[in-house]
Amino acid sequence: MTDLAARQHAAAVDAESAARLAARGLDLRLVDTDAERDAYSQVVARGFLDTERSTEQLDAVRERSAYRRLVGVYDVAAPVPDAPVGTIAGWVAELSVPGGATVPSLAVSAVTVAPTHRRRGIARALVEGELRTAASLGVPVASLTVSESPLYGRYGFAAAAAVTSWRIDPQRAGWVAPDPAGRVDFVPRERWRELAPALHERVRPGVPGELAAPAALWDTLAGTRPDAKDAAKIRAVQHTDADGVVRGLLVYTVDENPDDYARSTATVSYLLAETPDAYAALWRFVLDLDLIGEVRASELSVDEPLLWMLADQRAAHVEVVDHHYVRVLDVPVALAARRYGAPGVLALDVTDPLGIAAGHWLLTVGDDGRGTVEERSSDDVPAGAVRVALGVTELSAAYLGGVSVATLAAAGRVHTSGTGGAQRAAQMLGWHDAPRLTYWY
Ligand SMILES: CC(C)(COP(=O)(O)OP(=O)(O)OC[C@H]1O[C@@H](n2cnc3c(N)ncnc32)[C@H](O)[C@@H]1OP(=O)(O)O)[C@@H](O)C(=O)NCCC(=O)NCCS
Repeated sequence: MTDLAARQHAAAVDAESAARLAARGLDLRLVDTDAERDAYSQVVARGFLDTERSTEQLDAVRERSAYRRLVGVYDVAAPVPDAPVGTIAGWVAELSVPGGATVPSLAVSAVTVAPTHRRRGIARALVEGELRTAASLGVPVASLTVSESPLYGRYGFAAAAAVTSWRIDPQRAGWVAPDPAGRVDFVPRERWRELAPALHERVRPGVPGELAAPAALWDTLAGTRPDAKDAAKIRAVQHTDADGVVRGLLVYTVDENPDDYARSTATVSYLLAETPDAYAALWRFVLDLDLIGEVRASELSVDEPLLWMLADQRAAHVEVVDHHYVRVLDVPVALAARRYGAPGVLALDVTDPLGIAAGHWLLTVGDDGRGTVEERSSDDVPAGAVRVALGVTELSAAYLGGVSVATLAAAGRVHTSGTGGAQRAAQMLGWHDAPRLTYWY
């Protein structure tokens, strides 16, 4: 754990949110002991429509979640006062940004409020409080994946990395890409679980929007948790190059079609490739499976090379879904970390309903794509600069280079100065690779 992550994990709860909740008889506090963590887990499971957790599940969750800072809201008047009525989890993890660097991000998860206490501002107090705490510690961005789209824009989050869900008819798709080199083999799930973290660590810096993954993710994907459901369905596959180095990993499941056995369904749970050969070989393997009439996959990029490997692009039905939400907390630190698509100067006027990231900034990008950020007074706009007035939600949308400022301007969400200002700003803030996050958290 980095020093920043350790400080975030141990920080006191936000005083402003605590005072707001206390005025309503509610107690905001860190979840600490094992018993408190188990009660918290039960409430989170209920909030996400899951069944009551067994002792085995509680043990598995507790053993794998120590990295998370857990915060709960407690109602002392409730019949079970030890069960929180509101929950949130947060930890600091590296978020990849355009250009191969990473920034520390407050990863937010497990936001639930009991149905008995909903729509009284508890979620708002939790989210705002954890954002203020992270910002005060110097965490430059926050991020999350969402159960419902409309929840987090009000706090400054935006869907900065959309992903795609695919349904492919493999019997129609065909293949027009070169034959990939290397070999593809089944491996035991336990072996896959060992290989996955290192491959993800090598791949993630080059994929804007990707987030350092908690160890628990790999157990879930490989079905190696003691409480795993349907683990026996999971098939694990690796790709190795000519030197025997593992360059790609795949886990998938198959569901028989009772009406037509020869048109069963294969679902790709996770496919990660470090090289073009590994990518092509694993997709070709999936599309060539016998007895499969439909291949499903999700959390793919919006600009997936796979589309250009298919002879018949209409064999694939592709749906775009908002996925990785990002929220800038520290404008200069966040903007200086990423690289840019074109040189130029932007005078940014940023508003923020929480006041955390509001200000006036000058972003100067050189020919090498590096940006420097200086604070400026609101009326100081150098000649040749494009003035861009936007909220922190819109800045966050554009942060990973996956949402065009020109599109946001056309949607009326960003205002730019001068003829072609939106297009110039879009070129600067854009990036050549679509951002993506390969998992949920
Ligand atoms: C979503 C959830 C956490 C909201 O909790 P809550 O305490 O009722 O939310 P609040 O009362 O603090 O509402 C805060 C704001 O969000 C809005 N909001 C809350 N739930 C919403 C929903 N489902 N859809 C749209 N807006 C919603 C409120 O109207 C309020 O808006 P405003 O303050 O801008 O006027 C709660 O309904 C829940 O536990 N849902 C199930 C689990 C879940 O989906 N969690 C989110 C995981 S990403």
